[in-house]
Amino acid sequence: MNYSHRAYLNTLEILAWQQRNPRAADSTPACPRLPDWASLQSRVAACTACGLHSSRTQTVFGTGSRTASLMVIGEAPGFHEDQQGEPFVGRAGQLLTAMLKSIGFERSQVYIANILKCRPPNNRDPQPEEVAQCTPFLDQQIILIQPDVILAVGRIASHYLLKTRSSLESLRGKVHSYSDRQIPLIVTYHPAYLLRNPIDKKKAYVDLRFARTLLQPSGASTNGTIPLSAQQTLSRTQT
Ligand code: URA
Repeated sequence: MNYSHRAYLNTLEILAWQQRNPRAADSTPACPRLPDWASLQSRVAACTACGLHSSRTQTVFGTGSRTASLMVIGEAPGFHEDQQGEPFVGRAGQLLTAMLKSIGFERSQVYIANILKCRPPNNRDPQPEEVAQCTPFLDQQIILIQPDVILAVGRIASHYLLKTRSSLESLRGKVHSYSDRQIPLIVTYHPAYLLRNPIDKKKAYVDLRFARTLLQPSGASTNGTIPLSAQQTLSRTQT
C-alpha cells in the first residue's frame, strides 16, 4: 500500500488492513471502500460530537448536484438554514444564488455545503473544536463529488480549506490548490459580507468569473480530472 492510498484510508477513518503472512495472501489488491452518501448523511444527522447538537433544530448537510463541477463552501448554517435544513436559503443565500446565476449556474447545478453542519448560537464564529469535529464530513463530501473547482466563500471556509490565516483580500485573485487532491480553489467574499458591503459585489463578480474560466465551458464535470485551463493557471500561481 503506498502513502497516498494509506492517507486516503485515514481520511475516511478506515483501518488499513495488514497482511499477517504475505505469502499466504493472493495478489489481488484490496479495493478501498468509498464513503457513500446515505451513510454519510445519516452520520451527520445523528452527530453529537460537539456542543452545537444541543441547540440545533436540525443538521444542514448540503444541497445540489452530486456530480457538480463547482462546489461552493460556506461557513455554517444561520437561522433560516437551521429551520429549513438547507444551506444558504436566507438573504445571503439568495445573493449567492444570484451570484451563481451571473456566471451561468443554476443553484441545482452546483453543490453547496458548509464547514459546520450545525448552527452556532447567534451565528457566532465556529470554534476550532467544532471545526475539527465537523470537517471530516465535508472532506468526505468533497471526495464523493470530486469537483473541478471549489469556491470558498468567506474567511472561515478559506482559512480551513487552505490551512492559512492570511487575509481574505490577499487570498483572492489566485488559484489555490485544495489538499493533496490538488483541486483548484478560488476565494471570494461571503455573501453576508456583501450584503453589508455592496460596494464589493463587483470584486466578487470578478472572482466568480475567474472561477468560471477554470471550468469546462459547458459547466460539465470532468470527474476529478483537473481541466487543462486550471492546470495551466495552477502551475503559474500555486501557493
Ligand atoms: N452562511 C453560510 O456560511 N452558510 C449558510 O448556509 C448560510 C449562511
